[in-house]
Amino acid sequence: MAGLAWKWPRTRLPVGASALGVFVLCWLYVFPVYRLPDEKEIVQGVLLQQGRAWRRNHTALALFRKLLEECCDPGQLFAMTKQNSPMGKNLWFDGELLYSFTIDNATYSLFPQATPLQLPLRKCSVVGNGGILKRSGCGRQIDSADFVMRCNLPPLSREYSKDVGTKTQLVTANPSIIQKRFQNLLWSRKAFVDSVKVYNHSYIYMPAFSMKTGTGPSLRVYYTLQDFGAKQRVLFANPNFLRDIGKFWKSKGIHAKRLSTGLFLVSAALGLCEEVTIYGFWPFSVDLRGKFISHHYYDNVLPDSGFHAMPEEFLQLWFLHKSGVLRMQLEQCEDPLMQPAT
Ligand SMILES: *[C@@H]1O[C@H](CO)[C@@H](O)[C@H](O)[C@H]1NC(C)=O
Ligand SMILES: *[C@@H]1O[C@H](CO)[C@@H](O)[C@H](O)[C@H]1NC(C)=O
Ligand SMILES: *[C@@H]1O[C@H](CO)[C@@H](O)[C@H](O)[C@H]1NC(C)=O
Repeated sequence: MAGLAWKWPRTRLPVGASALGVFVLCWLYVFPVYRLPDEKEIVQGVLLQQGRAWRRNHTALALFRKLLEECCDPGQLFAMTKQNSPMGKNLWFDGELLYSFTIDNATYSLFPQATPLQLPLRKCSVVGNGGILKRSGCGRQIDSADFVMRCNLPPLSREYSKDVGTKTQLVTANPSIIQKRFQNLLWSRKAFVDSVKVYNHSYIYMPAFSMKTGTGPSLRVYYTLQDFGAKQRVLFANPNFLRDIGKFWKSKGIHAKRLSTGLFLVSAALGLCEEVTIYGFWPFSVDLRGKFISHHYYDNVLPDSGFHAMPEEFLQLWFLHKSGVLRMQLEQCEDPLMQPAT
């Protein structure tokens, strides 16, 4: 026995198959397959954390803010201003590959001299529109912040105020909404002006230079509000800021074609505010008790799949919550039945 020469282990696989196996292993090593946990696993993971007290970690927050500062400089760049976008400057649309535009006299005159916000903002609420807000009783808590940001011109009528509040200082509006809901403001503009009255004195933050087709409608929003003497003012999102924020999250592993408005807004808030609490950021079909919920707090219209990467985005935000960088509110704030009627 001892005299047997050492031999390569025998295999029944033909040489070609072994080579293929080695090739696949090498391929996987170079391009690992990231398996995103599925909805059930994510919800389980979140449940395990519930009940643990959340504490802000000022070290982690300062570190994260420094990263944001270095990549994207939110304080200076999040909106177009005369300072950061001089006349004649050429900028690329951040949502297009091939198109750029030059800031002309007329457009330039619509920009404020510098960021009009009093920075740093203190406590901010960022409100996503997730169905988890329904019957959350979070309205009062949301409104207790100094600065409230909302996404995509959400409804704030009385039936929702207990859950989402009414205060708004900044609300985003995609040009596609202006097109769908208000016929690009080419016909009656009064319906639009009336519909934004609920946002009181807020800024309407529009990605006017992300897609070529979005510029016209965004400028019309600006002129419409001006013509009607409305209280709201348009702030134009800076395409360089949006692109940099997109790259930042891509480097952290988000593989979407485009970030959702919500993640842009949370990123901006982390750069602009001292304390950030986010509400309604929950892209799943069940709540923490396993009950089915609608997609938004006001409807159940599902987004186009494949465009945004909502579970990936959620996991990043959840990581920030666990690190003490921001607070994510997922449970009820108050029992809505216990609140006095408003
Ligand atoms: C706070 O964050 C820092 C940096 O991420 C970390 O080193 C530290 O352990 C955290 N502190 C607590 C109490 O979690
Ligand atoms: C830009 O517009 C202002 C007034 O709106 C005008 O006085 C100025 O001459 C214009 N400049 C150019 C370069 O067109
Ligand atoms: C509208 O804004 C003004 C000034 O910022 C504030 O005093 C008022 O309470 C706000 N109204 C509502 C309904 O939020």
